[in-house]
Amino acid sequence: MEKSSVNIAVFCSGSGSNAQKIFEYFEHRADVKVVVVMSNNKNAFALERAAKFNIPTRVFNREEYLRSDIIVNELKSYKIDWVVLAGFLWLIPDQLIKAFPGKIVNIHPALLPAFGGKGMYGMNVHEAVIQAKEKKTGITIHYINEHYDEGEIIFQEICEVEEGDTPEIVAKKVQVLEHLHFPIIIDQLINQGKEDEKN
Ligand code: GRF
Repeated sequence: MEKSSVNIAVFCSGSGSNAQKIFEYFEHRADVKVVVVMSNNKNAFALERAAKFNIPTRVFNREEYLRSDIIVNELKSYKIDWVVLAGFLWLIPDQLIKAFPGKIVNIHPALLPAFGGKGMYGMNVHEAVIQAKEKKTGITIHYINEHYDEGEIIFQEICEVEEGDTPEIVAKKVQVLEHLHFPIIIDQLINQGKEDEKN
């Protein structure tokens, strides 16, 4: 049977506010569907958000994750085309990258290659930006490769860091950009993928 939609798996470790925006954006689309939310954290609020959209969830432990054939097979059983990392904190195993070449995207709350790499997540990023007295920060949407935050950059958007901004204020500014752009960029990538398949 021919597949009628492009299927997305969203990986989350925490709150899932970006995931929520992605669920909302694609909720009424027949051609693109979020079909599963994968998490390493059974307490991730993202799982509750997914449940409200009737999206199945799957929580895995470290052992299952590192035997990544398990995860790859599950994604294949959901006929996943795109893997979207929305606040997912574990490094993506090689086997998963190889199973979805050029189809795994992540969002990072700073302007990579600055303020990326191991340990650069959440408020650590915004604190580092302020300490470095940056005048600008922003978001980066990028492909995933074997190294934290080093895959090819797809999209960046900038916001100002003003005198007196706290890490919390910067976090809020960055989050506004994330919520605005991430679903749209995912949609564009999917459409681009469809065009490439035609040619
Ligand atoms: C976002 O800032 C994203 O850039 C980073 O993790 C955070 C996730 O936030 N990768 P949320 O769980 O989507 O609220």
